[in-house]
Amino acid sequence: MAGASAEDVLKLRGIATQYFTSRALYAAAVLSIADELAHDAKSVDELATAAGAHAPSLYRILRVLAAAGIFTEQGDRQFANTPLSALLRRDVPGSLRDFVLLFGDETSWRSWEGILHAVRTGETPFEHIYGEKFFDYVQGHPETAAMFDRAMASASSTTNAAVVEACDFAGFGTVVDVAGGTGSALCSILEATPDLRGIVFDLPHVEERAKRFIAGQGLANRCEFIGGSFFESVPSGADAYFMKHILHDWGDEECAKILAACRKAMDASARLLICERIVPAGNEPSSAKLIDLHMMMTNHGGRERTEEEYRRLLSAAGFDLRRVIPTSTPWSVIEARKNR
Ligand SMILES: C[S@@+](CC[C@H](N)C(=O)[O-])C[C@H]1O[C@@H](n2cnc3c(N)ncnc32)[C@H](O)[C@@H]1O
Repeated sequence: MAGASAEDVLKLRGIATQYFTSRALYAAAVLSIADELAHDAKSVDELATAAGAHAPSLYRILRVLAAAGIFTEQGDRQFANTPLSALLRRDVPGSLRDFVLLFGDETSWRSWEGILHAVRTGETPFEHIYGEKFFDYVQGHPETAAMFDRAMASASSTTNAAVVEACDFAGFGTVVDVAGGTGSALCSILEATPDLRGIVFDLPHVEERAKRFIAGQGLANRCEFIGGSFFESVPSGADAYFMKHILHDWGDEECAKILAACRKAMDASARLLICERIVPAGNEPSSAKLIDLHMMMTNHGGRERTEEEYRRLLSAAGFDLRRVIPTSTPWSVIEARKNR
């Protein structure tokens, strides 16, 4: 075709079909193939029997994944794990199985089907399809809620060490993890900071899973769970208010309410520490730009923001953005203080 290089044609075709691999990955995660291969290679027939799958179809799925470095085919339709597919095992530290399940789940997939609805109307496809906001929906769907919490803990665990390395919590007595989920980030912070005490604040339906997680980390003596909604109030009097992956879930109006609740709970010297991906300017590739689209599909007003947008949001809520602390990952920690 005039003007188009063969390379460009291949590139665009590749992007158009990227979700084929993503769906294959989701199927392999649901079928627990990586767990089956935890100790040795297996034939596709063995894998299909264990997973209750149709062997010839499973083979076609696994060879696509093997071509992407997820599993390896060892001849004679035998497959083994690779470092990438090993991350799909449930029992490994930093497992991404639940992360894959969340983004492949019906709630994500159906929301993405609404991309044209989103772009034509500005509405959130999830709400258009399910008739309620995502975090209201999960409160009535315990299995999705548990899967979501596990996925968040799994996603958070891949960046917790970098946050702890970049940010010194040693000067604080108590930190509240506002909407901390089951406590993955806070437990890492507490492990690295022996004298610190922590409070995980989140919706009441998360309580049992959070308490189990915190106890599992051996931190029940220094970390408590308090249930409630950040649209009403958050626990007061702590030295630091940490918030990871929260403001990106919401539009500016809801963020203003969350920040107002934090502000009300904070003394003049308390710090607000917001951990998010910051959208870079221009054409720079960034996972923030991609996850921003996921927010557009699933979360009411949810969006990733530039540093300037965070500065404005904070200023309107009565905070000064003091500094942006980069980490070795795409996440940064934005430090803010009350400005009056
Ligand atoms: C994207 S997750 C982030 C969890 C955790 N901070 C992390 O990074 O792993 C958003 C969290 O916000 C919580 N949440 C949603 N609405 C809330 C509300 N009104 N009050 C308190 N927490 C809320 C959810 O239950 C969920 O744990």
